[in-house]
This record gives sequence, C-alpha cells and structure tokens, in this order.
Amino acid sequence: MMRIPFIAGNWKMNTTVHEAEELVHDMLERLDRIEGVEKVLCPPFISLPTISELLKGSSIKLGAQNMHFEIKGAYTGEISPLMLRKLCQFVILGHSERRWYFGESDKIVNKKIKAAIENGLKPILCVGERLEEKEAGRTEEVIDKQVNRGLNNIKPTRNIVIAYEPVWAIGTGKAASAEQAAATINFIRNTVSKLWSKDIAQELRILYGGSITSSNIAQFIPQPEIDGALVGGASLRAEEFLSIVSQTAAIKGISLPAERGKL
Ligand code: PGA
Repeated sequence: MMRIPFIAGNWKMNTTVHEAEELVHDMLERLDRIEGVEKVLCPPFISLPTISELLKGSSIKLGAQNMHFEIKGAYTGEISPLMLRKLCQFVILGHSERRWYFGESDKIVNKKIKAAIENGLKPILCVGERLEEKEAGRTEEVIDKQVNRGLNNIKPTRNIVIAYEPVWAIGTGKAASAEQAAATINFIRNTVSKLWSKDIAQELRILYGGSITSSNIAQFIPQPEIDGALVGGASLRAEEFLSIVSQTAAIKGISLPAERGKL
C-alpha cells in the first residue's frame, strides 16, 4: 500500500496577513515544484482568503487550524465549516492546544470531525499524550480513547489524516524518538483498523508532530509507519519548511508526475 507522504505547516497564532503573504511568496515557487509529497499550509483564518488566491494553480493545499461544528448561528467569534469549505481543503481538529487551553473534549472534537466531513473538508485529527500520562505508562490508553472517541460514529473514510503529537514534544525542542513515534503510530493504525477496517487503516496517512525541524526530519521519514509530519514552529521559516518537504520527498522517493496538482 502506497501512502502519499504528507507535510503540513501549522502556523498557529503567528503572522499578520501581510507576513503570511510574504512567507508564502518566499516559498511558493520552490514548494510548488516538490513532487510526491502532499503539501499543506495552515495559516490563521484571516489569511486564508489571500493565501488561497496566491496558491491557485499550484500543488500546495490550504488548511484551517480549527472550526466550529455548526454551520451558522449565534456563536460569537467562531468560524463554521461552511465559511471554510470554499477556502481550504483541510482542517486541523483536536490539536492539543485546543484541547488543553480551550477545553475541547473528545466529544467536541468528534462533532467537529463529523461536521468537517459533511462539508467536504478533510480533518487532520490530532492525538497525543501529556508528559504525566507518558510517565505513568498510559500513552496507549490515552491515544486509544482519543482515536475511538474522536472517530465515534464517523463513517469510515480515507479523507482523514491523523497526527500523533505527544504534548510534551510540542514546541519544546524535545521531539520523540523516531522509533517511539513509529511504535505509537503503529498502535494508532491498529486502533483504526479495529474501529473501521484493516484496508482503510492501511490507507490513512498518520503523521508525527512535535519539534520537527530540518535537522531531525530525516530521522522520522525513513520509518515506514510515519507518513509525514505536522510542523509548527519550523513551518514559519521558508527555508526550514522547504528543507523539511524536500527531504521528505527525497527519502520517501515517490514520484507521481501524473498526479501533480491533483493529490
Ligand atoms: P512544533 O508544533 O513543531 O512547534 O513542536 C507542532 C504542532 O503543534 O503541530
């Protein structure tokens, strides 16, 4: 089973619209030319319209970082799937910063995943254990819950990406080891296999995220279980991000010229 490698940049709450435009400018042509990797940028909501224009005709996709599960209504400050569906293809859901700073439960994440799929958006579901959970040997239990609850009553679909992001590795400069990440990703794949089916589980891209840089990406990508990365801090620097994507393309070595622009 060939899974197309996937690299997404999660810009979080960084970049003004102007800065976002500049960042895209700095990498657009070179990023566009890298083949065999699905490339996704996830800027703040307010930059999505501008960037979606800049990316038109390129092989680079866009994602949002969050969304509400309702289509519209009295939810001050929220953004709905309906607002996003013409602007981007992906949406990050259940990021640990949403879970822990904004109190998003698995139940809320589940509703969001359902709403995203219903509106033609592809969710990037984030799961990951906190340091105390890892130290208590509870990683698999935590991940099992997050995956099963997050995907509860969702019709099996290939249009979802899962990102394993141990909370202790996010923004800390302390990435998991590639072996650790691969083992947990394998566990996630088995969990999806039990919940949905072996075939779909084999086709899903499952990423690693947490302190990925151009200096350590080459440790992760050779692991057959790891289909790419969700990159935070390092995605804010054009050269860093380009290097991460091109190393991934070189290591996974998938060449799909016919698929260009259609991934
Ligand atoms: P980081 O963030 O690469 O800055 O650790 C990853 C993420 O939160 O997606």
